Amino acid sequence: MADTDGLLEARNFEATAPVAGGFHVKGAHAQDWGLQNRLSRIFRRDTGRTVMLAFDHGYFLGPMAGLERIDANIAPLVPDADAIMMTRGALRTSIPSHSDAGIVLRASGGPSILRDLSDEHIALDIEDAVRLNAAAVAIQVFVGGEHESRSVANLATLVDAGQRHGVAVLGVTAVGKDMVRDARYFRLATRIAAEMGAHIVKTYYVDQGFETVTASCPVPIIVAGGKKLPELDALTMAYRSIQEGAAGVDMGRNIFQSEHPAAMLAAVRAVVHDDVKPEEAYELFRERSAGNATS
Ligand code: R5P
Repeated sequence: MADTDGLLEARNFEATAPVAGGFHVKGAHAQDWGLQNRLSRIFRRDTGRTVMLAFDHGYFLGPMAGLERIDANIAPLVPDADAIMMTRGALRTSIPSHSDAGIVLRASGGPSILRDLSDEHIALDIEDAVRLNAAAVAIQVFVGGEHESRSVANLATLVDAGQRHGVAVLGVTAVGKDMVRDARYFRLATRIAAEMGAHIVKTYYVDQGFETVTASCPVPIIVAGGKKLPELDALTMAYRSIQEGAAGVDMGRNIFQSEHPAAMLAAVRAVVHDDVKPEEAYELFRERSAGNATS
């Protein structure tokens, strides 16, 4: 292991330099056919981006607002998402099997909101992921957390299984309540996830220096929505994320807790795939939601 005394500050991110390629998903040009095919179910070939609808929250939070009835509240939105992220329990019980969206399965679990959330284990066998036609499996890394080392080892174990079966792995950077959410932290956490073999990394947007996070991560970054914000604010965050190098969003509460989830999903799609500015996307949201309380 490298000597860690006197480390120089990283600064040469070359954020606009082209990345190695030939495939529309960053960092995946040397992967096998099956894995590339699965990544193509998540990232659109024409834009290289994705709108992933996340509703896996129940794996530690139970039936939170908006997810009381996944079959009734979420299933109707699925046709408008490029990919969906949920547990296998939610998929098997509540999502129609004719869905076209790329399937991203939550593969970690253990503690509930009542306990230390970093105390996670792998909670899915890769064979069941293949049986469910998953394009990717998702697991958290708790960099700086109490169980940092085990969570990174869990990721590596899942990557080994994913590489054997051609299933992509989404590394999710989980941030403890006491940690500083800045670009320096997210560069560290996202890069560790990618170096351990994650094919996609999910993280949070930060106002300062986010382009250094996306530039220094050799695989696509997708951005979690976080807590429910006013729609214009959520669209602004999505827009900035994309313009600063993210390859999509993995958004949950800001869609399913909106008064108009379908309209919000349409507005997010416009931002992600068509580079529509937030104010214009918000107008789209208002038009789509006018006169319809649930659309
Ligand atoms: C946490 O429960 C999951 O990783 C979520 O999928 C993730 O946080 C994205 O959902 P949201 O946009 O609600 O933060």
